[in-house]
Amino acid sequence: MNILILGGTGSIGSAVTAELVAHNHKVIGVCRSEASAQRLATLGAQPHKGDLRNPASWCTALRQVEVVIQLASTFDDDMAAVDAAAIAAIQQEACYRTSPLRVLYTGGCWLYGQTGDHAASETSPKRPISAFAWMEENAHSLLLDPRLSTCIIHPAMTYHEDGGGVFSRLLTQASFGVPLEIWGSIHTRWPLVHRRDLARAYRLLAEQPQLCGHYNVAAQTGVPMRDIIDEIIRRHTHDGAYVVRNRKYVMFKYGNWAEGPTLDQQMRADKVRAACGWSPEVKDFTQAVF
Ligand SMILES: NC(=O)c1ccc[n+]([C@@H]2O[C@H](COP(=O)([O-])OP(=O)(O)OC[C@H]3O[C@@H](n4cnc5c(N)ncnc54)[C@H](OP(=O)(O)O)[C@@H]3O)[C@@H](O)[C@H]2O)c1
Repeated sequence: MNILILGGTGSIGSAVTAELVAHNHKVIGVCRSEASAQRLATLGAQPHKGDLRNPASWCTALRQVEVVIQLASTFDDDMAAVDAAAIAAIQQEACYRTSPLRVLYTGGCWLYGQTGDHAASETSPKRPISAFAWMEENAHSLLLDPRLSTCIIHPAMTYHEDGGGVFSRLLTQASFGVPLEIWGSIHTRWPLVHRRDLARAYRLLAEQPQLCGHYNVAAQTGVPMRDIIDEIIRRHTHDGAYVVRNRKYVMFKYGNWAEGPTLDQQMRADKVRAACGWSPEVKDFTQAVF
């Protein structure tokens, strides 16, 4: 298939690009810098110069593809408006097509809010953290559009071998031998997935345009922070000292997005397993290199 990816150089997007290329899909990656163009070329994708902020710079490339994957985010104050404009451009471009454009849009586990002992499935109510509430609106608009075949993918907290992903902050603190900063509580649970496994879910869902709606992707439903820091301490021969920062503190210090890692969450991925046979290779984060 011919696939356009926004965010193909990112933490998740680079793994998705590599997975698609490895399965013989032709991938066009939108990039705003020469460095990103080179990264895409190294991954086997065709770079297309463009900026998420300027949909006119990339939306005509949609005419060359059957699938578009949205994994780009500016993570700035205007990220909601930038994403909404990108979505509108995709919808506009779909008017000229004779068959529905396949869209994989990225949400995330933080859209379910704090779940506590209840593991979120795709039918659970969404209670997004304020920083990402707009994602829910954009996802809804895509799902309602009859010119599109839309899948909303909700990745769990994603880790990887190249800097750790969601573990990176704790890994840096461990490597410096300073107390680990726990956000929320030591009992906070994170749903987890390795990005290679997540990338496989994107590919499988891209390949099956009849599968629409919300799909959670998690290998582990909810791993307590205690287990995560124990593993990091073990790998770094750290003395185990940690400090707990409450939600108010981290949101004030780091911004509204920091509410996400404080959430005590569990998220199930039964639907993607049943729909396309997805199963994680890394079933437990302690088996992974990160
Ligand atoms: N990481 C997680 O654990 C996680 C979990 C759930 C959901 N998500 C969601 O998944 C999405 C991707 O997350 P990520 O962690 O992979 O992010 P990331 O590593 O920061 O990657 C962001 C991507 O967006 C691109 N980008 C940023 N501004 C751009 C612009 N103006 N024009 C074109 N491209 C631009 C970047 O390209 P360049 O920097 O190369 O220009 C990069 O490829 C986000 O929506 C995030 O909320 C992430």
